[in-house]
This record gives sequence, structure tokens and C-alpha cells, in this order.
Amino acid sequence: MTGVSLRGVVKRFGATTAVDAVDLEVAQGEFLAVLGPSGCGKTTLLRLVAGFESPDGGEIALGARVVASRRGVVPPEERRVGVVFQSYALWPHMSVARNVGYALEIAGIAAADRQSRVDTALGLVGLAQHGARQPNELSGGQRQRVALARCLAMSPDVLLLDEPLANLDAHLRAAMIEEFRSAHARTGLTTIYITHDQSEAMALATRVAVMFDGRIVQSAAPTELYREPCDARVGGFIGRGAIVPANIRGPGRVEVFGREIAARMPAAARPGPAQLCLRPEDLAPVPGDSPAAIPVRVHRSLYRGGGYEIDVVPLGADAVRLRLDIRTPVAEGTTMAVRILDGWALPA
Ligand SMILES: Nc1ncnc2c1ncn2[C@@H]1O[C@H](COP(=O)(O)OP(=O)(O)OP(=O)(O)O)[C@@H](O)[C@H]1O
Ligand SMILES: [Mg+2]
Repeated sequence: MTGVSLRGVVKRFGATTAVDAVDLEVAQGEFLAVLGPSGCGKTTLLRLVAGFESPDGGEIALGARVVASRRGVVPPEERRVGVVFQSYALWPHMSVARNVGYALEIAGIAAADRQSRVDTALGLVGLAQHGARQPNELSGGQRQRVALARCLAMSPDVLLLDEPLANLDAHLRAAMIEEFRSAHARTGLTTIYITHDQSEAMALATRVAVMFDGRIVQSAAPTELYREPCDARVGGFIGRGAIVPANIRGPGRVEVFGREIAARMPAAARPGPAQLCLRPEDLAPVPGDSPAAIPVRVHRSLYRGGGYEIDVVPLGADAVRLRLDIRTPVAEGTTMAVRILDGWALPA
């Protein structure tokens, strides 16, 4: 099996730099998600690894083999990389089994070997019983699993998935997340999974690389990304919450809304202006006369099944919205008090 390594990879389309000096190491067997907003360069990055695009600079290696550099590029069919796209593009007139085996047929694999590889691949995605069906007799999620099986049947070294769940509804997506997790556990394939859906990335990957404007700005385990974003942009993109002006007073001490509180911060943080990333669980309602209480007005209250998500505005800080989850309803426009239990300091 094979890891993936990108060093200083650049891809331009005219004046657009779609991938801008990306360094990325994906370990053998790792499940990495690449997460970022539309147009940030995710698909281009994946197409570069697959060999559908050639870089304008830098180097791409699969395992020990350099597949793209100044010295030349290895074509896609010689990379042993499997790709699953958002649109699964099955051949409508072929059975499920034939769809999965067709590329093997083209590659000249003997019928008996082909049959066993098709059966194994369909088994891996839980469709062993559906080989004889036509694609139009399957649900959207099952079709996407056929596309995954088609890829696995080719025994790739690396699996690339570009928003494979984007066409499915929320329930199917949740079920398919389980399918991808178990397919990865069973195959142990090095996997790069592209998505703009952070909950998908967090649920699936052992590591998430966040991409903005062609660059990878932070690459970390989901919990670290959530708890310790590297800057306000990542903090705002990942998870719910607020980023508010603050002042670092000393190690682990921050002033916010005129009160000094304890907060987490990077080791390199120095006293001075900063921002504080506050997740909903970092805030709690408290009686107005309790120490460190911040008086707020309820701006918006949304029932979220089992509780309420509320946005509140600290009195005297009209532009700030803090978000927290509470159990009992409060009316919009009421005043209450909240306390900051925890927070993560970011550069100003
Ligand atoms: N073949 C191309 N020709 C010209 N520009 C392109 C081409 N492919 C991509 N781009 C541009 O490169 C940038 C990155 O595109 P890319 O498709 O990689 O983004 P993405 O992150 O996959 O977005 P999405 O989430 O919408 O799929 C965009 O500005 C896009 O318009
Ligand atoms: Mg894309």
C-alpha cells in the first residue's frame, strides 16, 4: 500500500491559482478529509493526485514513486488510484455486476478472476445480493456504493473521493458515512475524501485538512480542529460558535467584555489584542448577580428538538452574537445572563 505526498504543488488556470504551493503528507492507510468552501481548489487537488491535471510546480509522489514533477508525469491509468465522483455515472444499460467489472473486462482480466473480484468488491460495499439488478432498480445510496465497488474492484493503492455524498439526502448521507467508514476499515486503503460538509469530514476522517484559496491552512485531528483552530477563519468555518474581540492578559488569562477569565491559548500567545473562539458549550446561562455574569439580550431562539439554540447579544456590544444551547425556552427580546466557561484565544 501507498501514502500520498505533495510538495509545493501549484496549479494555475489562467489568472486563477487553484492550488497554491500545497504541502501534504497522507500516511499509508490514513483517511484524510480535505474540507473547504466552494472554489477553494479541492477538486483540482484531487485531479492532480489522480493524474487528470498536471501541476505547474512542485512534486507529487505515491509511495516512493514520483508521479508528477518537472521531469514529467505518469498518466492516470498507471497510478493505481481509484476515484469516486459526486455523480456516480453508472452505465444504465449494464447490470450492477457488469458496471463493477467493466473496467476489468477492458483491462483483459480473465472471466473467473473478474467474477471473484466483482463479488469481493460488491461484498465490501454490502451489495453482494444486487449484482443482477440494473442501476435504475437501486436507491441513490446503493448506486453510489456501486460506484465505490467499481473503484475497489480495480484494487487501487489509493482511493480518492470527491463529494461522493453531495447528491444524497441527509438520512442516506448518514448511512453512507457508516458504509465508507467500514469500507475503509476493511480495505485499509489510503483515502482522500473531499467535502465542503464539515460534519461529514469530522465523522469520517482521522485528520482533516482545511483549504482556503488554494492553500491548506490547518491540518489536524477533528477534535483539535474544533478546539484549537489556527485562526479566526478556520474557527468560524468549523463548528458553531462565535469569535469575539478579546485581550490576552497573561498565560491562560483573557479579558473579554470587560471581565478577566481563564481561556486556552497557543503556547506562543503573547499579551495584547486577540480574539476568543467561543463554542456553544463554552457558554452557560447563570443568574444575573453571579460572578462574571455577562448580561445579554436574546436576539433569536430556535427549537432544535430536545432544546433551543439561542443567539444572544451582550449589552453594549451590539455587533456581537454569542450562540448557546439551552433546555428551556426563552422569549426573543428578553434579557438574561451568561457566563464564559472556556474559550480558545486566536490571533487578532
Ligand atoms: N478547468 C478549469 N479551467 C479554469 N478554471 C478552473 C478549472 N478548474 C477549476 N478552475 C478554477 O479553479 C478554482 C478551484 O476550483 P475547484 O473545482 O478545484 O474548487 P472546489 O474546491 O472543488 O469547489 P466545489 O466545492 O465548488 O467543487 C476555481 O476558481 C475554479 O473556477
Ligand atoms: Mg469540487
